[in-house]
Amino acid sequence: MSENNLSIPITEFSEPNKKGNDTYRKYILVKHESLQYPICVYRISGNDYKALWLRCSHQGAELQVSGDTLVCLAHGSEFDNSGKVTNGPADKDLRTFITYLKNEHLNIVLK
Ligand code: FES
Repeated sequence: MSENNLSIPITEFSEPNKKGNDTYRKYILVKHESLQYPICVYRISGNDYKALWLRCSHQGAELQVSGDTLVCLAHGSEFDNSGKVTNGPADKDLRTFITYLKNEHLNIVLK
């Protein structure tokens, strides 16, 4: 973790099942001291991740993660796992962060 960057070992997404086979978490939540709310990082595939700030674009309440949907309990807005509004009253998509893979780590650019 640095001022403008979060770095997560890619193994954080691994979750071996009882048979010892690799399965993967759909998402993980990460926090950075500069952000009021956590970031939800969805693993779309091994090379494709989406980092979304869990701040509702309507009036700023913290979102709850429900599978592939992000739900705001304040007034009922919903967002998909790419941050797009799927249900109002919010009319703006969520803030997203650029991500890139390097040395078995997923880096999230916070600027
Ligand atoms: S603050 Fe999220 S729907 Fe109003």
